[in-house]
Amino acid sequence: MPDRDAALEAHLAETREARYASYFSFLRIPSISALPDHATDCRAAAGWLAAALTSAGLEHAEVCETGGHPVVYADWLHAPGAPTVLVYGHYDVQPVDPLELWTSPPFEPATDGDRLLARGAADDKGQVHAHLMAAAAVLATRGEFPINVRYLFEGEEESSSVNLARWLAANRERLTADVVVVSDTGFFEGNVPAITLGLRGIMYAQIDVVGAEVDLHSGSFGGVVQNPANALAQIIVALKGPDGRIRIPGFYDDVVPLSEADRADFAALPFDEEAYLRRVGLPSLVGEVGYTTLERRGGRPTLDVNGIWGGFTGAGSKTIIPAHAHAKVSCRLVVDQDPARIFEGLRTYVEQIAPPGVTTTVRLLGDGRPSQTPKDHPATQAAARALEATFGRPPVYIREGGSIPVVASFETILGLPVVLLGFVQPDDHAHAPNEWMDLNNYETGIRTIVRMWDELAGVRT
Ligand code: BES
Ligand code: MN
Ligand code: MN
Repeated sequence: MPDRDAALEAHLAETREARYASYFSFLRIPSISALPDHATDCRAAAGWLAAALTSAGLEHAEVCETGGHPVVYADWLHAPGAPTVLVYGHYDVQPVDPLELWTSPPFEPATDGDRLLARGAADDKGQVHAHLMAAAAVLATRGEFPINVRYLFEGEEESSSVNLARWLAANRERLTADVVVVSDTGFFEGNVPAITLGLRGIMYAQIDVVGAEVDLHSGSFGGVVQNPANALAQIIVALKGPDGRIRIPGFYDDVVPLSEADRADFAALPFDEEAYLRRVGLPSLVGEVGYTTLERRGGRPTLDVNGIWGGFTGAGSKTIIPAHAHAKVSCRLVVDQDPARIFEGLRTYVEQIAPPGVTTTVRLLGDGRPSQTPKDHPATQAAARALEATFGRPPVYIREGGSIPVVASFETILGLPVVLLGFVQPDDHAHAPNEWMDLNNYETGIRTIVRMWDELAGVRT
């Protein structure tokens, strides 16, 4: 084992307790970006990160205003001639409801064998923390990085990064780099190391159907007036066919069809459909006819209702015609679909099919473009070597169904390629109760990040 690796291991062994104390204290901050009541917690998490970056030895740590929850920036730029990497992650987390399904409180981290349970343990505080610990370890053991690094951590990823694109455009100079490394994805089914080459985009909207000013007696008014809940159901049914095809006119116009090579790549992945079904606990999978499960998840667009409400939902029965009904609807998009165009298509179609007798409106809540990164980029290949060196097997290349809106902005606004290097397990319960991080992946992830910087510097090639 080279001295460098021995020193890294010694450092990580010595600082183990402090590392977990730090990880836990980060997780205790309930930085839920979507809920206005948690705005101060988001700010606290940003402050926590700036202090942690400074104590790791990074320079110019700063909490920067964006108009929403702040971003945190820091750098270390003393490797002239070596490449510069911009590291991205997010400190905000998803809401925690339903709280009663958590086996321990979401913001009190608890260990269960190799698992660390807490909201954000995996998505994405755990991965951000691995970067912090990797940076601290490099500087503590060597006094310098083999490359130049800039860190950018945001607090609105789970809310579509609504303010980040503007901030990137206004801060181009201090973001000059050669490549972006994003650690907000994970491994393939069965905990197989993976590099993500594609992410879907997203268009998130709300449909509101409004009838009378107040609920009406369903005996006196049933059969006479339009029912907003029925009207909403009609609209939703019309959005997608039983064949899984979305019926919004023009929806598929810009979709780049899967090539034979794409399909061969999906088919070559070590995917066990039976095991996948067991893990999600469902009797069968459904989706667009003519495509495999992995193709439907990573390579085809979709439309889903994320929430629907209206009328009486309490115990027993109440005979009313509800005054209003609502649904949150989102589409996952693939290259080259444009979220703005998809939203216009949805709005126009809903206006056209909306039943009479009520007022129906559609508004956009958030969006993000799909992205694809090249497999043959030298930084992707450096990441692959780093993963193989630390996890003991070469990574598979995958296309994910999830979205990270800023990835497309890094490409379009900063003109930078993005490597998606993440370490979470695919069944980590992200966004759900009992989110967990595999601590072996977290620990090996720290070593992979260190190795990645060496690979990028050409130290290990
Ligand atoms: N880390 C995820 C993105 C992700 C999900 C990557 C699954 C790979 C697999 C990210 O934090 C996320 O949840 N993004 C949101 C974006 C949305 C709120 C605009 C998503 O995909 O729902
Ligand atoms: Mn995330
Ligand atoms: Mn997320």
